[in-house]
Amino acid sequence: MAKVVITGGRRLHGRVRVGGRKNSVVAVIPATLLAEGASHIENLPAIGDVSVYADILKSMGLSVRQDRDSMSIDPTGLVAGITPPRELAQRLRASYYLLGVLLARFGEAEVALPGGCDIGLRPIDQHIKGFRALGAEATIEHGVVRVSAPHGLTGAQVYLDVVSVGATINIMLAATLADGTTTIENAAKEPHIVDLADYLNSCGAKIQGAGTDVIRIRGVKSLSGCVHAVIPDEIEAATFMIAAAATRGDVLIDNVIPKHLDPITAKLVEAGAEVTQNGDSIRVTMSRPRPRAVNVKTLPYPGFPTDAQQPMSVLLSVAEGTSFVTESIWEGRFKHVDELKRMGTNIRVEGRMAIIEGVPKLMGAPVRATDLRAGAALIIAGLMAEGQTEISGIEHVDRGYERLSDKFRALGAKIARMQG
Ligand code: EPZ
Repeated sequence: MAKVVITGGRRLHGRVRVGGRKNSVVAVIPATLLAEGASHIENLPAIGDVSVYADILKSMGLSVRQDRDSMSIDPTGLVAGITPPRELAQRLRASYYLLGVLLARFGEAEVALPGGCDIGLRPIDQHIKGFRALGAEATIEHGVVRVSAPHGLTGAQVYLDVVSVGATINIMLAATLADGTTTIENAAKEPHIVDLADYLNSCGAKIQGAGTDVIRIRGVKSLSGCVHAVIPDEIEAATFMIAAAATRGDVLIDNVIPKHLDPITAKLVEAGAEVTQNGDSIRVTMSRPRPRAVNVKTLPYPGFPTDAQQPMSVLLSVAEGTSFVTESIWEGRFKHVDELKRMGTNIRVEGRMAIIEGVPKLMGAPVRATDLRAGAALIIAGLMAEGQTEISGIEHVDRGYERLSDKFRALGAKIARMQG
């Protein structure tokens, strides 16, 4: 098990560059299998989920060539009946996008129920609803999802019962090669859905409305491969923005799309930070001794992103006053609270809400990362705490952040990674 050891109390300062967006990459990589020819994907982050997906495609017999921050995928060798290995599919949530892709290409797919962060129940009923609307049969038996459409897929109207990023993407993937037009209503509007639609349209798909709550996909006969650069990761950017405020530092974050960070910027300014945007960079400073208490409610985009809730809760743990943080997306996304209590926080969780009584400062302690964003939150806590913090379970963080410790060290943090 890898761990990091942090000596806190140092202000972050300098500049850092954000990589490609994890949650876009893990959709674009499987989407390349829809095309008849090779695609070249750029601005890839060197994170665990990307290497697992590369292993999945190689295990399916595909040619995958990786350079430093790009990947070429040639789906020519793809044939019907290939199933991704269960042990790989279970290592990340996004393996289930292979259902939509293989169903679209071959009229059948079989993928083990996905893994991913333990942040609550992670149902896929809306994915199944969409596949069935397109004419597929779907079953879940012994932990494996099987979908089949022996007569092909036919465009349909799908109204999502809940705003779901995964279901929106999976249905969009399946519908791209269907016969006729599919409309997804109550669709998720996250920027990575727009990014995926941009990639697919560059390959010859006919998708309109991505980024709104109604997406229209006119099925086409085939797609050709193409080149695509993935958009920046707004959650990585948010992590650095919050860390800058939490350590009362001064950090310039490059390679961002400021619009995607509006909910983070608004909350940090409300908490007393200074945030300035300049082209594709954003600068965060905090001169107040302690942040103001603010209330946060996680919502689908463009609301405050659930993936930044845990890091934001750490900043609010030392605010002047009481903050109320409502987690409306994942009922299990408060596991970091028990770990933070070891560092002197005063947080009470009642159902979907964390009531955070700000304390003057955190104290370093040994803690354990329980999931990807909880790990990032604990690193921020260690950076701002007095004394030494040791965080185990850093493998969780490696899934979604490229060299996070190195990037924080380059900003002045005293942080070392070691095998524990
Ligand atoms: C994606 O998960 C992200 N993961 C998550 O990021 C992110 O937290 C989430 O979207 C919300 O933005 C990837 O993109 C790989 P959802 P996903 O389907 O697609 C309910 C991270 O830290 N729901 O939008 O699984 C569900 O229970 C990860 O990078 C159903 O009820 O999320 C939840 O309450 C963690 N039925 C809500 O919808 C379904 O069929 C949103 O889930 C699907 C979802």
